[in-house]
Amino acid sequence: MNRQAPGAAAARDLMKHPKILIADDESAITTGLAAILEDAGYAVDVVADGQKALDKLSAERYGVVLADLKMPKLDGLALLRELQLRDIPTECIIITGQASVDSAVQAMQQGAYDYIEKPLNAEKLNRLKALIPKALDKYQVQQKNRELSSKLEGLTHYGELTGQSESMRSVYQVIEAVAPSTASVLILGESGTGKELVARALHTKSDRSKGPFFALNCAALPKEILENELFGHEKGAFTGSTNEKAGAFEMSSGGTIFLDEMAEMPTDIQVKLLRALETRQIRRLGGKKEINVDIRIVAATNKNLQKAIADGELREDLYYRLAVVEIDLPPLRERADDIQLLANEFLGRFAQQNGKSITGFEDQAWEWIISYHWPGNVRELKNALERAVIMSRGSTITASDIIPRHLRAGGEMPAALTIPVGATAAEARQQLVLRTYASTSGDVVRTGKVLGLTDAEVRTELLTMLQVAGEAPARPAPVVTASAPAPRPEPAPPAPAARSSKRPDPAPPARAAKKPTARKGR
Ligand SMILES: Nc1ncnc2c1ncn2[C@@H]1O[C@H](COP(=O)(O)OP(=O)(O)OP(=O)(O)O)[C@@H](O)[C@H]1O
Ligand SMILES: [Mg+2]
Repeated sequence: MNRQAPGAAAARDLMKHPKILIADDESAITTGLAAILEDAGYAVDVVADGQKALDKLSAERYGVVLADLKMPKLDGLALLRELQLRDIPTECIIITGQASVDSAVQAMQQGAYDYIEKPLNAEKLNRLKALIPKALDKYQVQQKNRELSSKLEGLTHYGELTGQSESMRSVYQVIEAVAPSTASVLILGESGTGKELVARALHTKSDRSKGPFFALNCAALPKEILENELFGHEKGAFTGSTNEKAGAFEMSSGGTIFLDEMAEMPTDIQVKLLRALETRQIRRLGGKKEINVDIRIVAATNKNLQKAIADGELREDLYYRLAVVEIDLPPLRERADDIQLLANEFLGRFAQQNGKSITGFEDQAWEWIISYHWPGNVRELKNALERAVIMSRGSTITASDIIPRHLRAGGEMPAALTIPVGATAAEARQQLVLRTYASTSGDVVRTGKVLGLTDAEVRTELLTMLQVAGEAPARPAPVVTASAPAPRPEPAPPAPAARSSKRPDPAPPARAAKKPTARKGR
């Protein structure tokens, strides 16, 4: 029997050929089974009761445990429960007598991989031999996911992205998992949520990072120019084309091409793009030759794609090609802890750039920052912080430094308030206080008057929010939206020359916060 010493090499080996543990008190079964599995190339250990199995599984890694349902000290079901309680990774196959098939089914409902009935005749053994590799595969996939999550746990930055919220860590996890592949990725999210930074991270974390990253804004260019930019042209392809020109596909070969605002692409270019994606070949305008391109496509949009497809603006087949993996970036207002992290980071960055020594925020400014709903997302926060640093005359940012003038004036501009179904009345009240407070430019007395609360009550709500903001969980999907229009955010800064001059609506309708999903396209 295998008695391999634990260690790095053994751990590596285990990833390739995970060990199997047999837990059964009938030595006739264990001896025979161990011999058969060892002959099949597996490393096998044997124990005679459930407690010993648990001890072994706590000390060493086993890809699969074959556990007798009825064994001394800890039976199969109890062992399974303990494994789950202690979060011990392994796949459990239950061995059961005919009389206790019901319990075996129950074990499966509780997370066992499968069960096999005694007597272990030739047919059952064959079934077991077929089951084990599948269970080991599942174990290995789960191990990989665990490694990824623990690697990304506690991360506050990833590539150029800043964020420590659970939703952003899930985004990092998807990027980390898909970056090495050539799978097309579609990034969704409101304006200013960081879609371009995600696209860049996908590039820099991939094997293509040494190749070019080529960004093209599909909304910014007229159809003919976009087509020319994407596919290039041959000499004489159209009047005035005296030279040949390689397009983005050729130029980004070996790297990543980022198609920003891809839902704006004219439909006949979509057909060509689809063909390029399917064949990995393009033809220049006016050219006959098929040119091979080795590209990875990342696309982004802040449009409602279901509507774009329904309206015939986006080809459904192209959508499925581009969205092999979809990453949905959550809006900033749903990431309270990221607001704080980003605000501090931008403060430090802009203070340094402007040669100012600003150490933090006054309470009122801070309260406004965390209670404002940031319709322009991180871009708006970044701009607000830059402006605040420039305006600031002291060593801390005040409310009047940070709150944009159009939100300060009057305060008659209530933000739309979104109350998630499932929220408690207390939570709804807190949201109401915060939004009203923001709309009065941080005036506790007026907030109290508007809401019919005392100043002390308003302060208590604000304080609670301040205290929990750091650990606030992602809000459930907002489904009930009440009241007035949201205030317009500050205009986005002018886009860099090479990119779109058209900025999408900075306050698109709120979309349900979705965890990023990795999904196979058709
Ligand atoms: N998580 C983040 N960490 C740091 N900076 C961020 C983050 N998200 C966005 N930004 C910054 O905010 C600005 C907007 O980001 P980006 O251009 O990636 O957004 P976008 O989703 O592509 O927006 P749009 O839909 O308007 O094109 C950039 O200056 C970017 O550096
Ligand atoms: Mg963008």
